[in-house]
Amino acid sequence: MPVPRSLTTAPHRDFELEVVAGEWPADISGEVLYSSPQALGNLPYRIFDWGAICRLSLEPGTRGASPGRFAWQSVSIETPGKRLFNRHPEQFSSGPIGYVSPFGPPNCSNTAPLPWGDRLYTTWDAGRPVELHPGTLEFVSEVGHVDSWGGSSMPMGGILPFLFSSAHPVADPERHCLWTVKLAPVMEPTFGMQPSLVRWDRADGTQVKVHPLEGVSFSGSIHTVSQTRDWVILCDSGNFKADAAEMMGGERTTTIDDEVPVWLVRKDAVEGLPSGTPVRPVCFTMSPPNGHYYARWDDTDGVSVVWEGMDLMDLALYMRPDDLDVNGNPVDPGAVGLYNMAMAPETIVEVVFDPNSGKVLEKGLFRTDWTFNLQLSAMDWSLEGMTNPTLHHVSYQGCRPGNISARAAKMYEGRIDLDQVREETPGALCSFERGSMELKGRWEYTDTADHITSPAFAPRDVGALAAASSYAGREPGGHDGYVVQAVCNDDGFRVELFDAARVSAGPVAVLKGTGKESIPVILHSAWSPANHELVDAERLRFSREVTDESLASVPEELRAAVRAVAEETDALL
Ligand SMILES: [Fe+2]
Repeated sequence: MPVPRSLTTAPHRDFELEVVAGEWPADISGEVLYSSPQALGNLPYRIFDWGAICRLSLEPGTRGASPGRFAWQSVSIETPGKRLFNRHPEQFSSGPIGYVSPFGPPNCSNTAPLPWGDRLYTTWDAGRPVELHPGTLEFVSEVGHVDSWGGSSMPMGGILPFLFSSAHPVADPERHCLWTVKLAPVMEPTFGMQPSLVRWDRADGTQVKVHPLEGVSFSGSIHTVSQTRDWVILCDSGNFKADAAEMMGGERTTTIDDEVPVWLVRKDAVEGLPSGTPVRPVCFTMSPPNGHYYARWDDTDGVSVVWEGMDLMDLALYMRPDDLDVNGNPVDPGAVGLYNMAMAPETIVEVVFDPNSGKVLEKGLFRTDWTFNLQLSAMDWSLEGMTNPTLHHVSYQGCRPGNISARAAKMYEGRIDLDQVREETPGALCSFERGSMELKGRWEYTDTADHITSPAFAPRDVGALAAASSYAGREPGGHDGYVVQAVCNDDGFRVELFDAARVSAGPVAVLKGTGKESIPVILHSAWSPANHELVDAERLRFSREVTDESLASVPEELRAAVRAVAEETDALL
């Protein structure tokens, strides 16, 4: 069977879960946040739709749950763009990067939660990070005035800027800043996108700093930003490429690359530089293309990075109602609007870059016939855990021929091995040793009706050590704590909790909705301590971007809505 139909049919709602197997441990705390696109506008490709934030509390009886039960909450992210959509849905139509409107392209912020200390953000690739209230989960503000970003990535009209950025900015625990990117078209050295490194210091309130990467032009996207103590690591994800014909309403013919460029920027090189000053990166190449990569914080012995490969995973392809799958069957209606799934087993690899010599050393690699749909991973994000990472946990969803279109198979003729994608294979939660990428644990989901997704690592005994960071458990690194594994199924959503050191032993406890609720598709997750209050800080007001000049590009009859949204969002601060 293809992926659960409930991924596209289940509503966003609050409900309660209860323990249905095993015993819930007492040394787990905090909550897991999930980003999710809602299905509100009939976009053909669902991953561009309006964002929601979902929250699973790991402590029973909190966040409004009954005693002994666990709260699942879902809140729509009401950015200024979403508020304009609420007032004028008829003005929003489908474009190649989601919605377009006379107001400009809205920020749908639907891809990843980003807890940062006691603050909470959400992100996506086509807009600025968005701050949420950590207690109520309501929208608070967007990060950085558009002028400090250097204006829109490209002119699209309206009052809402188009900022082509990254869904995974990274928070710097030493410099107390956020590192992300902005992409904008250039003609030199070739026609393409030039990335800029974007730095937002929390102390700078509404201003970000932008540093173009000198001499760089490419034709992809930068989905992830990673870092060590001294370096920021950027990479062309390689698996989401714009197609000019498709943008004009025609058929997509562009395919993903076999290798991608990587750029390292030394943090000291931009320290104190005025915004706008270019910086020259150190360049490398990686293969296969990837979505996500994570560097070890300590770079004394080189820049060590685990790369979660996306071998033959083209994220620009999605399932259409008229598609046949790779076996020639009509596509299940539940799969329509979801992405075209992996067409080859995927590679996970750890490499060390030496920025001085330009050499790349491969430390460990894992790829075998069942490593299909390396979806997302779980790791210890505490500073202590990033400094000495031990285990890296990965959810493989298994091969899903019902979610591979015949159209995609034809586009990848010669690169795809059709015999490898004819049959479904089970999903598996796996633990790899950092560095060697040796498989240390594997738990298989033999029922292919189970769709595992968005794992998160919850440290054990957070707060037990007085000198540790607020995100650190007793033994940081990724082995001492729990992997919280979301399992989507049409018979009800489950949360399976694994001892991170013994994933092969199976879940130690299982939660299920008291009404067997299913959940819609979720994307990234993140663990966070439970924060309740919005800290005082200078934040961007949407009204500061509503000027006579910017308003002039909005049709007159729609300007009242813009003013109303400015007033409404000002009242939030
Ligand atoms: Fe991502």
